[in-house]
Amino acid sequence: MIRAGETLLVATRNRGKTNEFRAAFAPLGIEVRDLNEAPEAIPDIVEDGETFADNALIKARIVSEATGLPTLADDSGLCVDALGGAPGVYSARYAGAGASDADNNAKLLRELAATGLTPPDEAAAAGAPDALSAARFVSALVLYAPGGETKTAEGDVRGFILPTPRGEGGFGYDPLFWLPNYGRTMAELSTEEKNAVSHRGEALRRLLARL
Ligand code: IMP
Repeated sequence: MIRAGETLLVATRNRGKTNEFRAAFAPLGIEVRDLNEAPEAIPDIVEDGETFADNALIKARIVSEATGLPTLADDSGLCVDALGGAPGVYSARYAGAGASDADNNAKLLRELAATGLTPPDEAAAAGAPDALSAARFVSALVLYAPGGETKTAEGDVRGFILPTPRGEGGFGYDPLFWLPNYGRTMAELSTEEKNAVSHRGEALRRLLARL
């Protein structure tokens, strides 16, 4: 579906995601562009699917049909145990349409404080006694080729939500997401380390194995 020397469009304006995909595809000789660099007008995309996979397919199909390029879409988010899986597919707009990462992180900490729950025992056992909840990042990827052929894959990673942000790397909820195996937050990892452990990295390895 895509070979060395070809260009892959990723259906995102999130430069954090683009950086991760660029690092992953560079060794394969595939150039990655995102919607900030796409010459064609991209129609507004309404992400009204019920699952990450539904939304990834919506984004990949619309962008590929508008540009004629093979397009990779990621739909991803954070599912927090103490919040019954929220924010889930609403992760990007948790604090409202156009919310910043800081707004979303602040809302997450407010919502967790409002639960009044005590930190889970498993967090203390893992080395983060002040963690507020166990959580999971999920990524669904869809690669859509002109003509309609698709490949899909999902990945996830488990960790804990800290009460205060740590680290400058990554994006989104990374500064609050602590990984027991590293003893660091996602925002304290390099891009290479994050790709090796993250939900998107796992989904991508599965997708590449299916090409
Ligand atoms: P999407 O662009 O509609 O898939 O929204 C994804 C949202 O989920 C982002 O805006 C972040 O809030 C969150 N998210 C997804 N992946 C990550 C990640 O790797 N780190 C931190 N937050 C993430």
